[in-house]
Amino acid sequence: MDSTVTVSPPSGLDVRQLRRTLGQFATGIAVLTTRAPDGTPLGLTINSFNSVSLEPPLVVFSLARRLSLLPWFETAEHFGISLLSVEQRTLSDRFAGPAQDRFAGVEWFPGPHGSPLLVGACAHFECRNAIRHNGGDHVLFLAEVCHHAAFAREPLVFFGGTYRELAP
Ligand SMILES: Cc1cc2nc3c(=O)[nH]c(=O)nc-3n(C[C@H](O)[C@H](O)[C@H](O)COP(=O)(O)O)c2cc1C
Repeated sequence: MDSTVTVSPPSGLDVRQLRRTLGQFATGIAVLTTRAPDGTPLGLTINSFNSVSLEPPLVVFSLARRLSLLPWFETAEHFGISLLSVEQRTLSDRFAGPAQDRFAGVEWFPGPHGSPLLVGACAHFECRNAIRHNGGDHVLFLAEVCHHAAFAREPLVFFGGTYRELAP
């Protein structure tokens, strides 16, 4: 189900300054995945992931309208979400870089619904594509958690436009 949000016309905000201000919110980093109909694994780096609801179990993320992979995620039945561990910084760069061969040499396994989940992550979720909303230059996805697992690993952190790690 899609719903429409009225987006105000440009208000004169400096987009680069806004990006810097938003970057003051520290996040983790995730690799969002799905499969093409022929089984090819597809994925990209995101940090717009967040929890929404426990009952029902819902998470949220947003994808830029300009993304080449957007049509695959809009039509996918399920997604995989791997929260990256501090050792997986190179995977964050790889899944945000040129789209070909992102999975080459990457260890992953299919979740119960077939979504690729990356080995070595802090946590895995497999989610059903539930609701999409208009979010300006992004599309907001609400996804229902079908399967999850947490592992005792330290997270990769993103703050101020750079990668960080938790202090010991
Ligand atoms: C740390 C980090 C966080 C990102 N978060 C998001 C996000 O939440 N949503 C999004 O659409 N793109 C996000 N991106 C950008 C996408 O990963 C990138 O634009 C995409 O992989 C480019 O794929 P394409 O060239 O095939 O369109 C992020 C990139 C990085 C490095």
